[in-house]
Amino acid sequence: MKIVLIGKNGQLGSELRQVLPALGEMIALGRDELDVLDYLAIQKTLIELQPGLIINASAYTEVDLAETQIDLAEKINAQAPGIMAEIAHKTNAVFIHYSTDYVFDGKKHTPYSETDLTHPLNVYGKSKLKGEENIKQAGDVYLILRTSWIYSLRGNSFVNKVLRWSRGNKILKIVSDQISNPTWARALAEITTQAIATNKSNPLDIFRERSGIYHLAGSGYTSRYEWAKQILANDPKRTEQLVQTIEPVSSDEFPTPAMRPLFSALNCEKFTETFGLHMPSWENALRKAMSESYV
Ligand SMILES: NC(=O)c1ccc[n+]([C@@H]2O[C@H](COP(=O)([O-])OP(=O)(O)OC[C@H]3O[C@@H](n4cnc5c(N)ncnc54)[C@H](OP(=O)(O)O)[C@@H]3O)[C@@H](O)[C@H]2O)c1
Repeated sequence: MKIVLIGKNGQLGSELRQVLPALGEMIALGRDELDVLDYLAIQKTLIELQPGLIINASAYTEVDLAETQIDLAEKINAQAPGIMAEIAHKTNAVFIHYSTDYVFDGKKHTPYSETDLTHPLNVYGKSKLKGEENIKQAGDVYLILRTSWIYSLRGNSFVNKVLRWSRGNKILKIVSDQISNPTWARALAEITTQAIATNKSNPLDIFRERSGIYHLAGSGYTSRYEWAKQILANDPKRTEQLVQTIEPVSSDEFPTPAMRPLFSALNCEKFTETFGLHMPSWENALRKAMSESYV
């Protein structure tokens, strides 16, 4: 199977790039090879390469900046995925795309399932929801995997931020009223690959039957405050921490340009029932991620 991965350098893209070659020939494209703002280039590249599977890990993910870069967020998160889905349809390819828990307003008190009403609070969430709608309209055989709170030990993830803050501060204030599922990018990349691997013999027909939206995030959910405490507890270089106190605070204490849903945990049962696979608990994944990253 020929696979085209778009967005190979992001948190998730970097992990997908490591595991997808197990499935067949992979052509991984970063912004330099394919700028998704160039819609003609998307069409030309995908039509030339004729992959059986297109995976889009590219996105505009600057949630606060999106409030003022509305057009850019819309082009990358809404228009570009629609075009990818359209080409996938025309060329008989399966299209896999990632969306977000921020399509919800966070007013629920139990984990969101795929049938719950969407109501994004910010520009990023609105642009991602439009992306979903464009894929549904243009696409044929697609999986839209809604995930949440992705982290990797590379780059500027929440995990790395907490580690950095812990080296420079005696007191850390972390919001305790935002709740969702921390999701290790590697675990998400691996489960995506497993879902494809088990259906590799005839992906187009099998994924056609299973086409749709799925929630897929680390098992269990927690607050940013509890997550930060676990990050510090799992830090293999704990002796470098200056921090003595970690204080729970409300989101009101840290106003941000973009509103965020307070409770956006995702219920991932549909994915497990359909594919027979489930994500590791967020605690186990974090432990593994933090031990491996220092090896
Ligand atoms: N991060 C989260 O907490 C989170 C939560 C829920 C859902 N998601 C979704 O999960 C997916 C993966 O997220 P992530 O955390 O891996 O994102 P990320 O680390 O921000 O990576 C996004 C990638 O998209 C690329 N990109 C942006 N604009 C582009 C353009 N014009 N042309 C080509 N590539 C472009 C970036 O390229 P450069 O490397 O060149 O900048 C980057 O490599 C996204 O769909 C995101 O919306 C993320």
